[in-house]
Amino acid sequence: MNKYNIAVIPGDGTGPEVVNEALKVLDAAGKKFGFELDRKEFCWGADHYLATGEILPDDASDQLRKYDACLLGAIGSNKVKPGILEKGILLRLRFELDQYINLRPVKLFPGVETPLANKTPEDIDYVVVRENSGGVYTGMGGSVQQDTPDEVACQNWVYTRKQVDRCLKYAFELALKRHTKENPWKGLSDEDKAAGYTAQLTLVGKTNVLTYVCGLWERAFNEMAKQYPTVKTAYCHVDATTMWMVKNPEWFDVVVTENLMGDIITDLAAMTAGGMGISSGGNINPEGVSMFEPIGGSAPKYTGLNVINPMAAIGAGAMMLDYLGEKEAAAAIEKAMAFVTGNKLKSMAAGKMGYSTTEVGDLVAAAL
Ligand code: IPM
Ligand code: MN
Repeated sequence: MNKYNIAVIPGDGTGPEVVNEALKVLDAAGKKFGFELDRKEFCWGADHYLATGEILPDDASDQLRKYDACLLGAIGSNKVKPGILEKGILLRLRFELDQYINLRPVKLFPGVETPLANKTPEDIDYVVVRENSGGVYTGMGGSVQQDTPDEVACQNWVYTRKQVDRCLKYAFELALKRHTKENPWKGLSDEDKAAGYTAQLTLVGKTNVLTYVCGLWERAFNEMAKQYPTVKTAYCHVDATTMWMVKNPEWFDVVVTENLMGDIITDLAAMTAGGMGISSGGNINPEGVSMFEPIGGSAPKYTGLNVINPMAAIGAGAMMLDYLGEKEAAAAIEKAMAFVTGNKLKSMAAGKMGYSTTEVGDLVAAAL
């Protein structure tokens, strides 16, 4: 039997509640598909910080490197000044573990309400590959004469060619994996298919203004495209992307973009697919340890009430299984989620699902 060692960071607010349901479903999948998840819990987050003054131990990432993957609930609390835990835990782990891809599927499940008129699960089904290690998140910059009228602040937007190339490679490979000649992306025209294309990869940037950094991305993108003759490439400015994601989400298959643009467009994309209650993501280091998380926050208002939607965490669990190689189990969890959203839940919103958090976990586990 395959056995995996998983680090679990339940974190703050509703994090522990949703992680419990994800683990419940993962265990049910393990029984069915014949694998075991051995897990260790790391109780980092607001309470640990307030009790000890420590945000993360110095060797936190070394500890996590011993595991096959991490599952994270949520980080952030209204008991701690905003930014301290987000930067000190989430961003620090992403950087130290070099999780250079933030993979965010945008998928409208059956029965889930979208704010986009006349759009169905057929139309909203793409993946955003957000670069997760560079850009303004690198943290270079500074300010002088703070709190005077002459204050100057700058925050540098930096990328190396290597950072760009490794992210683009992941995105091109993902486009190849998502679609095959037998199962081409449905947005392709007959002409595209006749030309041998099976998938589409869209680069999002702002090449009309931010010419140095976006120019680097564009040149690297066009150069790498030559190695992937079956992937049709497209380019979209980031502002126009927000428009098309609302108006024509069916135009997207795989989208690749830099860190901050990816952060912003994936919140918009998540809302089009039913909101934070059902949006999952993975912080991926293809050569190292990856960390999967529901992309919503810690929802202090709903903490401890057994009303938060655990679907995003369950989906993060499925992404983790896919990453670990348990593809069949991952697909089965997605199918079970679709059954539950399509046949059981009244809404994706906390407290309005028609079921409690634990009942939703039970439903998905039973549907498996
Ligand atoms: C996200 C979040 C984080 C980010 C914050 C909490 C640091 O918004 O995961 O998208 O900006 O990456
Ligand atoms: Mn974000």
